[in-house]
Amino acid sequence: MNLYEPMPMRVRNIINETDDLSLKSLELVFEKKTDEDRFFKNFNVGQFCQLSLFGKGEAPFGVASAAWEGKFVRFTVQNVGSLSGAIHGLAPGDFIGLRGPLGNGFPLQKWKGMNLVIIGGGCAFSTLYALTKHITHKAHRKDFGKLTIIYGARTSGLCLYKADIESWYDRSDMEIHQAIDVPEEGWDHHIGYVPDVVKRVAPPSSNAVAIVCGPPVMTRYTLPVLVDLKYPPEMIITSLEKRMKCGVGKCGRCNIGPKYICKDGPVFSLSELKQLPQDI
Ligand code: FES
Repeated sequence: MNLYEPMPMRVRNIINETDDLSLKSLELVFEKKTDEDRFFKNFNVGQFCQLSLFGKGEAPFGVASAAWEGKFVRFTVQNVGSLSGAIHGLAPGDFIGLRGPLGNGFPLQKWKGMNLVIIGGGCAFSTLYALTKHITHKAHRKDFGKLTIIYGARTSGLCLYKADIESWYDRSDMEIHQAIDVPEEGWDHHIGYVPDVVKRVAPPSSNAVAIVCGPPVMTRYTLPVLVDLKYPPEMIITSLEKRMKCGVGKCGRCNIGPKYICKDGPVFSLSELKQLPQDI
């Protein structure tokens, strides 16, 4: 199998996530059954894929769907450049290339029986959305303890996955805290930045793991809050984003010291990050 050869995927569905149309979710299906089988045999929630369009390039995107949802893969793409702009221009039925699944994903086996606090911001919430979908499935929910979600966006219009998140408020087996930066009429959840909300509502650190994915500034200020709340460094987990090229540990584009984000990550614990030569 050629690691650099993209699999042909077809766009099945497109969802406009935000009021300003800057974020869209695309559901992709496999053209070849062999590709589909291989993907789902190897897929762990928390992994990423390289998406490519001919003549535009290739870039990494976190998988925003859980395996139980069906034989498709969801990605949430922010329109920030020529490739993402071209992806936003796709329509149902169009083709796109995919390499993956890549990276390590979340170590779910290690978290069995533990309380989870999932902390996300902006479009980096996509893999945490997949994680939440995985955990809340009836086949998996009993494997984990208390589930707390803390999710921030700049405005209510920029919140992702609105219908699902709204439905999470009705579940008795999870606690959800949404925040926006400044007050808005009709918004009756938290106001403020994610690290401050974490300070106020994060559950006790005993038998708990905190998973943080967000813009770098959010992550930078949230990790010390969790340390102050006595979460052990090996129980503070984050997913790193870095420029990638090969995605399979060959080109050296994504390394921090001896670790390759694409192969050893993108999911690392704070204790692992502390051993790397630079901070995140
Ligand atoms: S992207 Fe090539 S080594 Fe990680």
